[in-house]
Amino acid sequence: MPMLKQPNQKYAAFKPIRLPDRTWPNRTITQPPIWLATDLRDGNQALIEPMDVERKKKMFALNVKVGIKEIEVGFPSASQTDFDFVRHLIEQKQIPDDVWIQVLSPARAEFIERTFEALKGAKRAIFHLYHAVAPVMRNVVFGLTQDQVVNDLTIPHVKQVRELMKKNPETEWRFEFSPEMFSNTELEFSKRVVDTVVEVYGATPQNKIIINLPTTVENASPNCYADQIEWMHRNVAKRDCILISLHPHNDRGTGTAAAELALMAGADRVEGCLFGSGERTGNVDIVNVAMNMYSQGVHPNLDFSDIDEIKKTVEYCNQIPVHPRHPYAGDLVYTSFSGSHQDAIKKAFAHREVNPNGIWDMPYLPIDPMDVGRSYEAVIRVNSQSGKGGISYLLQSEYGVDLPRRMQIEFSQVVQRVMDDTGKEMTADDIWNIFDAEYFSKAAPYKYVGHKLAEDSSRPEAVEVHAEVVIDGDAHKAKGMGNGPIDAFVAAIASELHAPVKVMDYHEHAIGQGANATAITYIEMRVGDGPSLHGVGMDSNIVTASFKAILSGLNRDAARVRVASTAASK
Ligand code: KIV
Ligand code: ZN
Repeated sequence: MPMLKQPNQKYAAFKPIRLPDRTWPNRTITQPPIWLATDLRDGNQALIEPMDVERKKKMFALNVKVGIKEIEVGFPSASQTDFDFVRHLIEQKQIPDDVWIQVLSPARAEFIERTFEALKGAKRAIFHLYHAVAPVMRNVVFGLTQDQVVNDLTIPHVKQVRELMKKNPETEWRFEFSPEMFSNTELEFSKRVVDTVVEVYGATPQNKIIINLPTTVENASPNCYADQIEWMHRNVAKRDCILISLHPHNDRGTGTAAAELALMAGADRVEGCLFGSGERTGNVDIVNVAMNMYSQGVHPNLDFSDIDEIKKTVEYCNQIPVHPRHPYAGDLVYTSFSGSHQDAIKKAFAHREVNPNGIWDMPYLPIDPMDVGRSYEAVIRVNSQSGKGGISYLLQSEYGVDLPRRMQIEFSQVVQRVMDDTGKEMTADDIWNIFDAEYFSKAAPYKYVGHKLAEDSSRPEAVEVHAEVVIDGDAHKAKGMGNGPIDAFVAAIASELHAPVKVMDYHEHAIGQGANATAITYIEMRVGDGPSLHGVGMDSNIVTASFKAILSGLNRDAARVRVASTAASK
């Protein structure tokens, strides 16, 4: 296999920002930002198959439903589908009164013209203009000096936008400007461009301009972006005329962190996509940033209470699945397979039942799955790593079977043997089937037929039982006395059926309620000098359930003896 090259001969480390008095590390996020969804623009432009109008309509409706009030709906000068979609929204009056649509245009005169055409008749709109500012673009792509960028790209196109806004007064306008590749640009030059835009546009505190500062490509750790944002926040000429917008991409996998630290550094707005769709590794994931806030006690003012429906729609529109481990939304993110995790969760759920309104402090569950419309059903799933906790949790939560602790250990070994053979996950139904086969279905050699009890409290052995049991296909009757029904039954089978049973522990509980309640009995016992094992019996009559439990244990012991003698004879 070829070795990776020495990276220091190829890549340069990002130069840290000099900001020794940075304040953002001491801040926290206490209120939500303004959100802009760009699923229909940055997200869409990166899809293998960009959305058709049908899918765009669905995505727009979803952005609105989630509660996003600023929605970038396309790049109408670059795509006829986008142009038509903007026209559809405006002509069919599809834009709610409290929602601003936004469209993107490059700093090129004919593209700006065309974008205004797309917006004709809109009640309100944000015109989003961008051009690159980074050295690599100036020097290698455009061949322009800094002065030429400002004089040839920035000033004339901002002026053109301002003029066209004036010529279309039926629309309430706002303006967004993006110095593309901001995070790879000298801060002094970004400031110069931004100050120029603010000046030429004529932004005021009453008519603020949106200055979007993107990590068009994420090249540095998120603290660098936060430093850049704090630097701009402090140094731009007219901060009170500006809303600072963040537009992190996720090339290093730290888009969410970048957005969060940059919000702490003074930004006002976040642009992103649902589940982090977008160019290359995607735009920042709005769901992730918003739910992170939610989990810290800050309402993001977005509604993700039905995350699976949202996920389904996004998957349909983007034709890309959301990963099962995607934060807050993946199929597996509220599931624990590990036994120790399951054990902790079980205990914490029991604790929460007693304190249902306390602050959420659940091991291995950062938020309550119910808050995003998930149930607790998938919280515990069982695979070969799980151990007894998950197995008994599933039996309890799905079948009402509450195994005593020592039996949990015994039964988990039975399940583990099956899982070691199959290597597969076990559902609650699978576990129940194994439980049934192990404790109930082994109806030979012993099978319960019936019994009668007589009590005489004047005797030391107050209970007399007459039991009918089938053994190896033959009906037997047995009589026994004891100080309780189990004692008497054990005496009956010991003396007359020659099965010496010693009862070591006993548990029972009801399954279900009222007339439909069934008793389930767990008896830990020893047959002769064999090892201790459990038998389980179920019946509407609690005494019958315990007799069946003893016979279940006898059948399991007989199976154990059979296996041992087969092994010895080989
Ligand atoms: O990532 C980016 O820089 C962009 C701009 C067009 C805002 O998408
Ligand atoms: Zn982008």
